[in-house]
Amino acid sequence: MKSLLQKLTQTPGPSGYEHQIRDVVENEIKDLADAYWIDNLGNLIARKGSEGPKVMLAAHMDELGVMVTHIDEKGFVRFLPVGTVYPRTCLGGRVRFLNGMTGVIGAERQEDINRVPSFDQLFIDVGVSSRDECPLQVGDVGVFDRQFEDLGRRVTSKALDNRIGVTVLIETLRKIAAENIQIPQQVFFVFSVQEEVGVRGAPAAAFDISPDLGLAVDVTGSGDTPNGSRLEISLGKGPAIKVRDQGMLSDPRVVQWMVQTAEQHGLPYQLEVLPRGGTDARGIQVSRSGVPAGGLVIPCRYVHSPSELADIEDAQNAVRLLVELLRSPFNPEGTEERSG
Ligand code: CO
Ligand code: ZN
Repeated sequence: MKSLLQKLTQTPGPSGYEHQIRDVVENEIKDLADAYWIDNLGNLIARKGSEGPKVMLAAHMDELGVMVTHIDEKGFVRFLPVGTVYPRTCLGGRVRFLNGMTGVIGAERQEDINRVPSFDQLFIDVGVSSRDECPLQVGDVGVFDRQFEDLGRRVTSKALDNRIGVTVLIETLRKIAAENIQIPQQVFFVFSVQEEVGVRGAPAAAFDISPDLGLAVDVTGSGDTPNGSRLEISLGKGPAIKVRDQGMLSDPRVVQWMVQTAEQHGLPYQLEVLPRGGTDARGIQVSRSGVPAGGLVIPCRYVHSPSELADIEDAQNAVRLLVELLRSPFNPEGTEERSG
């Protein structure tokens, strides 16, 4: 699992430019799915099974990045963030553009050296001394450059959000195929685009699939660092079942089904109540005439920084729980017309 995660984190895929990461994912799933296709937005959708209720599992492939807005006469590159990037995590960092060019993020002089500069005051230095020498153009995109490191049970890299979710989906599909596990439903594994810029890919996929149930597989924050956020989530205590985030309230029936399944199979889980953030689950939930939706999220520290850190066992337990969830279909009361 770690080597797949390493490969996925090190393949660039800023929002809207997911072609490289999609090629890698396609290669991993093409022999495992019954069918797969790529929709007009670039979502990669793999189907397993052809009978029973339709379950959509979504993990976004895109990652945070930068886009060139301006290049000055001396060749310094100004940029906008792609997705929710914080200036404080940019300092001292490097970016790698899709054309292979690397740059260092520099900042204008600050009167107060303890102040965090704004994006307006940041620039990228690609090592040239004039605009003519600069191999970039306005509109070029790049990602943060940070290696994957295996720390033992834990790993750190850029883009664990959400390549760890992508890894969980691939490994779930692989386990079902390898062990020939019978799934009494149609499962659509969606590797979605443009989540980081406001959940733009998943709703299109949900319209296409028209699922009976939708789950996002993504990361969540943790509250187990010094003076950290007040979150009841720790690394290594299992994946978290989403109860709410800023963008959605999970369907309580979905939460209950997930909790019961985890308990029946003795699998560790935590409950996620997150004041900020959102996932593809929100996009699925409000698609078409509404879809029962929830999420399975991997605890992660330093989310949206170039050095995110997670526990690989949480991802392995997420695969185990997903397989059990797919084996025991969610059966809510129907939405048929009722009469008294
Ligand atoms: Co994110
Ligand atoms: Zn994410």
